[in-house]
Amino acid sequence: MNRRQVIIAGGLGLSRTVRAVRADEDVRIARFEEPLDVADIPVGGWCLLLIDGAAIYIRRRTQVEISAVRNESISTLPDPARDEERVIDPEWLVVSGECTHAACRVVAGQGSYQGWECFCHGSQFDLSGRVRHGPAKRNLAVIAYEKIGPQTLLLHAPLRTALRPSQSQTAAAAVPRPLGGRT
Ligand code: FES
Repeated sequence: MNRRQVIIAGGLGLSRTVRAVRADEDVRIARFEEPLDVADIPVGGWCLLLIDGAAIYIRRRTQVEISAVRNESISTLPDPARDEERVIDPEWLVVSGECTHAACRVVAGQGSYQGWECFCHGSQFDLSGRVRHGPAKRNLAVIAYEKIGPQTLLLHAPLRTALRPSQSQTAAAAVPRPLGGRT
């Protein structure tokens, strides 16, 4: 797999998100509501999607990673959330790449929790996208998706999912907080 791979042509408003992309990241341009083949994302790996200028991470977690985020107490987390509520399929976590503190883009595979780190002010997120170290106070926003094939996902636009507030705490109908929002 090429480290920089464009698999779906899409509308792309170049933004500071795009300018912040690191040279070694697997970056793909995609669209909401279109099938996304994720078979070539290695187990334990991830890719960064650029959708209409927004950064979204798809993370393919290992069984060890899944067990780790599910076997710990959430009571002391800044924004308590069970991992089971943040994914459809435990293997696939899809979250916004924008830090919930002040909207810098987070970087995957960094920090003490090996999830994401924000280098603007040091916030850290675990392998469920939950904030573990501030100044951010909220978890990375979950992006709703459906698994429409063994290794094919369909990501839903935040606007669509926001129309279903009664299920807002689940990945099946997540309501991502506004990209770029501040705490
Ligand atoms: Fe991420 Fe401040 S914007 S820690």
